Amino acid sequence: MSRPRPSAVIVLAAGGGTRMRSATPKVLHALAGRTLLGHALAAARGARPERLVVVVRHERDLVAQAAREADADVLVADQDDVPGTGRAVACGLDALAAELGESPRGTVLVTYGDVPLLEPATLSGLVAEHESRGSAVTVLTAEPADPTGLGRVLRGADGGVERIVEHKDADESERAVGEVNTGIYAFDAEVLAGALARVGRDNAQGEVYLTDVLAVARGDGLAVAALPVADAAQADGVNDRVQLARAGAELNRRLLERWMRDGVTVVDPPTTWVDVDVELGQDVRLEPGTQLLAGTQVGAGAVVGPGTTLRGCVVGAGASVVRTHGTDAEIGEGATVGPFSYLRPGTRLGAQGRIGAYVETKNAVIGAGSKVPHLSYVGDAEIGEHSNVGAATVFVNYDGVAKHRSRVGDHVRIGSDTMLVAPVEIGDGAYTAAGSVIDADVPPGAIAVARARQRVVEGWVERRRAGSPAALAAARAREVAAGRETTADHPVGGQGRSTTTEGEHR
Ligand code: UD1
Ligand code: CA
Repeated sequence: MSRPRPSAVIVLAAGGGTRMRSATPKVLHALAGRTLLGHALAAARGARPERLVVVVRHERDLVAQAAREADADVLVADQDDVPGTGRAVACGLDALAAELGESPRGTVLVTYGDVPLLEPATLSGLVAEHESRGSAVTVLTAEPADPTGLGRVLRGADGGVERIVEHKDADESERAVGEVNTGIYAFDAEVLAGALARVGRDNAQGEVYLTDVLAVARGDGLAVAALPVADAAQADGVNDRVQLARAGAELNRRLLERWMRDGVTVVDPPTTWVDVDVELGQDVRLEPGTQLLAGTQVGAGAVVGPGTTLRGCVVGAGASVVRTHGTDAEIGEGATVGPFSYLRPGTRLGAQGRIGAYVETKNAVIGAGSKVPHLSYVGDAEIGEHSNVGAATVFVNYDGVAKHRSRVGDHVRIGSDTMLVAPVEIGDGAYTAAGSVIDADVPPGAIAVARARQRVVEGWVERRRAGSPAALAAARAREVAAGRETTADHPVGGQGRSTTTEGEHR
């Protein structure tokens, strides 16, 4: 059965949102990587309207731009000086008529820009109910635990809606009514336009109330219906930051529940956060304290977390990413990252590769099977396949003015504590000795040693630190060695070390 399509959805987003106490317009605050307005437009678009309209006024340019970024085909309507939801809808209808070249017809939905949990199916259900009953107006209603501040739905003996009274205009008995207006409606377009032209501003707030359209339609003998919302959270609006956090937690809970039903293990949903555009494969496991943001994709069977934040990252199947902070990085299949790794933009780790503890990478392509296991910085570098970068290696990419790139070939062994001063190239199969400062290219298969020779000054401690614990330990060791030398003759020291006495250096 095909769902009925509304001719338009009008999303109201002209209000100030003063209770947010924010320099950012309320509808541009974000949840799960998408603005409140983005959520509202996505739900509206999901109902497949012929036209989608957003009404703006407060911070008009910012909100209009965000609306167009969220939905390229949205029609932006400006509300004029006259306040109220009714006026906002009238301005939306005017823009729609100008766009169409005629008055809009059919079913027009009205929703708000600050209702982030609303889903397309709820809007489609509202259209279906509205059209199948042939109503002039159908309002989506809810029964919240605390209806304070909201418009109360006053029904007649026939169950139809007589009118909606705003909290501020309601008397004691009207305020006792538990059924409230969610602000989401289906209207017959012609009834809506005609009734709005007859609605005044004689109320507690001096505004043109959209809700007054219902009484006007009813007065004309038209059918005005109420549809209780099946899933109340979907109609919850955000007015302040407390409600913002609550809606964010609920949205996240719903997103994770969907992923779990799709075969993702989420060990601790309350501390696991995913954006709406994240993609997760089957048997992905998300450990506690994990945030997956901005289109991050995780392949089948990968394990992410605990304590990991990935923004715009791609994680290959079967990879493991533990206590890592990553942005715009690619992690290959079966690769392992962390704990305590920092992947900056342009990092690409090949399949079965490894980036280990206290390693920072940036613009770094690390080939399949290559490893940077400990305490290193890899910036502006390309590393081939099956190479190993020893602990505490630094790709010295910055000369104080400009950044330079380095290349390391396949099957290379970079010794621990190597400084690779860019631009420099290490050929396939080459080695660098530990502690080297490498500032010239190393040909394939060579070893480069670039460090001072060690010298040993025998007896220095006992002479210069006489009586210290170190000197006493040295004396004991010398006695033990002397005792041993009576049975076997062990040479002391090896090649590459020069042994001198202190006197030679005075
Ligand atoms: C409105 C309803 C109330 C309902 C409640 C649900 C009216 C008169 N009252 O009340 O019955 O229970 O929503 O949340 O409609 N807006 C504009 N232009 C304006 C005024 C508002 O675009 O001039 C937009 C706001 O940006 C917001 C929405 O309309 O997204 C609702 O406005 P708000 O002032 O919050 O309406 P309420 O007084 O809460
Ligand atoms: Ca409101």
